[in-house]
Amino acid sequence: MAGRSPADLTVLLESTPPGRQIWLRGAGRSLYPLLRSGDSVRVLRCESEELARGDVALVRVGRRLVAHVVTSTEPVVTASLLGVQDPTGVVLGRITALRRGRWMLPLPRLIRPTLFLGHRLLAQVWSRPKGREALRGLRDFTVSGWSRPLRRRWLGQLEIRLLRAEDLDALLVFAGERLLVPSGFLRMQLLRRWSREDPEGAAVGAFDQRGRMCGFAWLDNYREEGLALDGLWVRSLVVAPRARRMGVAYQIICCLVEAARAQGADRLFADIDDDNVASLRTFRRAGFRSSTPELTQRVNEEWKVAGGVKPLVVLERTLI
Ligand SMILES: CC(C)(COP(=O)(O)OP(=O)(O)OC[C@H]1O[C@@H](n2cnc3c(N)ncnc32)[C@H](O)[C@@H]1OP(=O)(O)O)[C@@H](O)C(=O)NCCC(=O)NCCS
Repeated sequence: MAGRSPADLTVLLESTPPGRQIWLRGAGRSLYPLLRSGDSVRVLRCESEELARGDVALVRVGRRLVAHVVTSTEPVVTASLLGVQDPTGVVLGRITALRRGRWMLPLPRLIRPTLFLGHRLLAQVWSRPKGREALRGLRDFTVSGWSRPLRRRWLGQLEIRLLRAEDLDALLVFAGERLLVPSGFLRMQLLRRWSREDPEGAAVGAFDQRGRMCGFAWLDNYREEGLALDGLWVRSLVVAPRARRMGVAYQIICCLVEAARAQGADRLFADIDDDNVASLRTFRRAGFRSSTPELTQRVNEEWKVAGGVKPLVVLERTLI
């Protein structure tokens, strides 16, 4: 949930009397594609006994708020549309409507059986490797070359630039949807470091004609996360599927290269999963070349200690 932190939203919800409804702006892919980042949800405050299978419940799981389908009651169990079950949480209410821009989709109790069956079907497909492959194939098909002209028209003129303090909301919505980086960390970095007059590190965003962020990456050293690696590294490069294969990642990297140069850096690094063909091609196209075997080994050792599993390729680009 964007804008306010989950803790603030929980306090707000808990102080709302049962039977009352409130609108909250959501960020997160809990019920994607039914519910998307930036959408609002109307929550009816209620107790867990009032929920039934097929309802969409708002539940606090640890420090996160999730809006998921109720798959069984007594006790209430919730799961994502793809069938990933949540750990036990605290029920805060039932979602009664979704709002995206000017559109509102009511979720009356009548659609409970449809939602429950739809969820079961999707979960079954997703649970099989072939089903997962088919769903991923479908997703890749929608972002391949044939749909590019349509997507271009829909996105309009793209603006790719360094982030400013006023981009915070757009960044948090994008982060909730696509990044694993905690929003508190991004907020602090943007306001205290990246948008200063003499910035430390930098962040670049791609924005569509409606001002929605559709691509992002940042540049910083690794010391903040306790890794003993020097230099500036490109981090969290992600382009939303609707804007892929249009050169957005390439332009984001070029913009970061300029920012690093302006800050006097002589070299820029990137670490990439060795099977990430798209990312490797993007960095190589932007002039990055393989780093030394020594650095590659050191990065992989640090990464392993930090819990990384996949081998990383390390690339670098000289700036002078
Ligand atoms: C990797 C990613 C950032 C690329 O974004 P993008 O905006 O689609 O990339 P671009 O359009 O700028 O393409 C740049 C190059 O990569 C190639 N490329 C992009 N997507 C590709 C794909 N799926 N398969 C093969 N090549 C691909 C392009 O053809 C282009 O190469 P070329 O100039 O030699 O033709 C995007 O696919 C993404 O967000 N993936 C998920 C997150 C991720 O993996 N991030 C990288 C972490 S290091």
